[in-house]
Amino acid sequence: MPYHAIEDPKQLQALLDAALLVESDLDLPAILQHVLGAATSLTGARYGALGVLDRSGQGLADFHTIGADPGFCQGRLPEGKGVLGLLITDPRPLRLEELTTHPRSVGFPPGHPPMHSFLGVPIRVRGEVFGNLYLADKEAGDQFTLADEQLVMSVAVAAGMAIHNARLVDRLAELSRLEDRERIARDLHDTVIQRLFATGLRLQGLAGMFQVPEVARRVQMAIDDLDETIREIRTTIFALSTSGDSLRGRITSVVEEAAGSLGFRPEVHLDGPLDSTVPGHVGDHLTAALREALANVGRHARARSVKVLVAVRDASELVLEVTDDGLGISDQGERKGLGLANMASRARSLGGTMAVAPGDGGGTVLTWSVPLNRDRAEA
Ligand SMILES: Nc1ncnc2c1ncn2[C@@H]1O[C@H](COP(=O)(O)OP(=O)(O)OP(=O)(O)O)[C@@H](O)[C@H]1O
Ligand SMILES: [Mg+2]
Repeated sequence: MPYHAIEDPKQLQALLDAALLVESDLDLPAILQHVLGAATSLTGARYGALGVLDRSGQGLADFHTIGADPGFCQGRLPEGKGVLGLLITDPRPLRLEELTTHPRSVGFPPGHPPMHSFLGVPIRVRGEVFGNLYLADKEAGDQFTLADEQLVMSVAVAAGMAIHNARLVDRLAELSRLEDRERIARDLHDTVIQRLFATGLRLQGLAGMFQVPEVARRVQMAIDDLDETIREIRTTIFALSTSGDSLRGRITSVVEEAAGSLGFRPEVHLDGPLDSTVPGHVGDHLTAALREALANVGRHARARSVKVLVAVRDASELVLEVTDDGLGISDQGERKGLGLANMASRARSLGGTMAVAPGDGGGTVLTWSVPLNRDRAEA
């Protein structure tokens, strides 16, 4: 397709201004409004609109207009029927002499100004469509030209970059918020609680050595205070990790539940960016496998302690390890239940594996692991 040289310095300036907007510190709606202004003035269009697609790509998340009194939409987004919808389902430039006679035209809603000539182009960055730019009624009853189309395509790139950037910034903020929470919870658990616990134990060891009852009593009070503090911190960790139905929170709930029937509290180690890298459906399988593994320990192992490890390794593998110090799994041939088989098939459905093996000092080690980063459709 031949490109039309831009001869008018004003046009060139408007185009450059639009491109530079992406670098400005204006917020997204302001940038899009400017882009729309540039598109209408570059082409001499009376009306302009810019629709931002929602993340599903099927509907509109946002709609900006210029030229028309926005009052007629009364705060509602267009439903994306008619010609607007055509550009959503088929994102290719569209130039029409008469908007209302297009087969997809469904007419205008009440209060909508009449429009005739039309130019619509997709807002696209590296193959991904973020929305559409629509122009109507070129000045003096003229038609939009191929040169207009190419100008507006260039302006649309600026809009696309702005939307793309804004989404990246949102996503990064969300990720770092989740990672901060995970890091704080991990620090509290691994450092603060462990130290308090060790201090409590040391005081406990000293308590018997004090002859003066008043001193012994005060030491005991300090120990009780430490215990109370540890309990409070555990609650905080729980709150940090359960917010937003996080995987950490769900693992903690499953373990808390099991602690009741086991008669003791499993030791839990959570390692790596669980909440930011494990997709929801993988987390569902993991918590189901964990629940069954702990139920088995309760029913079959006669264990005195259990360790639960859930780790994301190299951001590419999710591992669950449940280690008990019980009787060990005796004869593989005699297994009649469904629990282990279900766990194995959950792992397989995600492309992973499950294994049970005797622990180093007796007991059983169950390992359940699945790859991450696979295509969701595949999983
Ligand atoms: N942690 C464990 N320690 C000792 N034996 C175990 C342990 N986990 C499983 N087993 C043995 O393996 C068998 C199979 O476990 P599986 O979970 O498949 O079935 P189940 O627990 O017996 O029944 P269900 O179908 O209700 O889960 C158990 O019956 C038990 O003998
Ligand atoms: Mg079972």
